[in-house]
Amino acid sequence: MLGTGDAGVLLQEKGLDVPLSNGQTAYFNYYWLRDNCPSSFDPETRERVNDIFALDEAPKAASAAIVGGDLEIAWAGTNDVSRLPLSLLNAYSNGEKRPDIANLQRVPWYADHYPKMARFSYDEVTNDTVRRRDWAKAMLTDGVALLTGLPDTDEALTDTAGLIGYVRPSYFGLTFEVKTHIKPTNLAFTAKALPLHTDLPDEDLAPGVQFLHCRANSVEGGNSIFVDGLAVAEDFRKAYPEDFELLITVDVPYFCEHDTFDMRSRQRVIELDEHGNISGVTISQHHADIFDMPQHELDRYYPAFCRFGRMMRDDKYLMRFRLNAGECIVFDNHRIVHGRAAYSATSGNRHLRGCYTDRGELRSTYRILSGEGRFK
Ligand SMILES: [Fe+2]
Repeated sequence: MLGTGDAGVLLQEKGLDVPLSNGQTAYFNYYWLRDNCPSSFDPETRERVNDIFALDEAPKAASAAIVGGDLEIAWAGTNDVSRLPLSLLNAYSNGEKRPDIANLQRVPWYADHYPKMARFSYDEVTNDTVRRRDWAKAMLTDGVALLTGLPDTDEALTDTAGLIGYVRPSYFGLTFEVKTHIKPTNLAFTAKALPLHTDLPDEDLAPGVQFLHCRANSVEGGNSIFVDGLAVAEDFRKAYPEDFELLITVDVPYFCEHDTFDMRSRQRVIELDEHGNISGVTISQHHADIFDMPQHELDRYYPAFCRFGRMMRDDKYLMRFRLNAGECIVFDNHRIVHGRAAYSATSGNRHLRGCYTDRGELRSTYRILSGEGRFK
């Protein structure tokens, strides 16, 4: 039955037209209206408790009207009545994705970033939730921040990581120690130069956020080299659009194999987010598996891959700095490419303790500390 409800609500076959406060009329589907009625959500768990799959027939309004600030719908064939705030309808009237406060504009940075890098003390991020929010924000916009004044304890690293996420394991365990190992299973565990890379692309879901707590650094050499992969990828997109297309579409095999593990995964070198913006890179020459793409495709892929790798080494992008004892560098492992100069293992002591958290929890922390949420 087609009909007109009160206050200009027009009932259609599969949905209805509602005049909104902005003067526009917007169409809403009956399933959507039934499924998103506030009573469809449990106030305690905040989860949806409406079972839309259980409906025998498609939901349909018997009548609908605007009452106060709500759209009130009496559903046909039941005694159910839904009241949906017009503010909710306004927010979903044009089919755009739900606004997300954590969807911040990423800011590319270059070689001169070290003095400008966001810095926070261990005490302030531990005790001051505003400063913790600022740290989370810097991680979303810049992809990197430096924490200072960490205690020289094993727990300092995991306590810090716990402020913006949960420590997630890798096949090296919950934490790892970057120092010279007697039987190294990774180039990082030697004193050799460590070429620019992102960590563990051979995992299904490469770690999101990386923490490196410097416990000691008295060696000659061993300076850190960090690059904003986003800045390189944005320049690459402009300079070599055809190569860029390959790097966002072709899956590259990565591996890490030793006595007790044989990790393999495929990743795209340049990653786009749901809006088509560059959100990061995943690259590691020492974990790249033997490329198994058809050889004729490699005629195009290899030159593009090498052009990107060379661009990444341009002085324009290389932020060189020394990580000092008591500092913890925290960075987005899907965006920030990092490496290290060689050092003399006999000249002193160099020890970093590391762990990972995921990017989703970082965004969650930022939303919570910003007071964002639908159930406020
Ligand atoms: Fe690394």
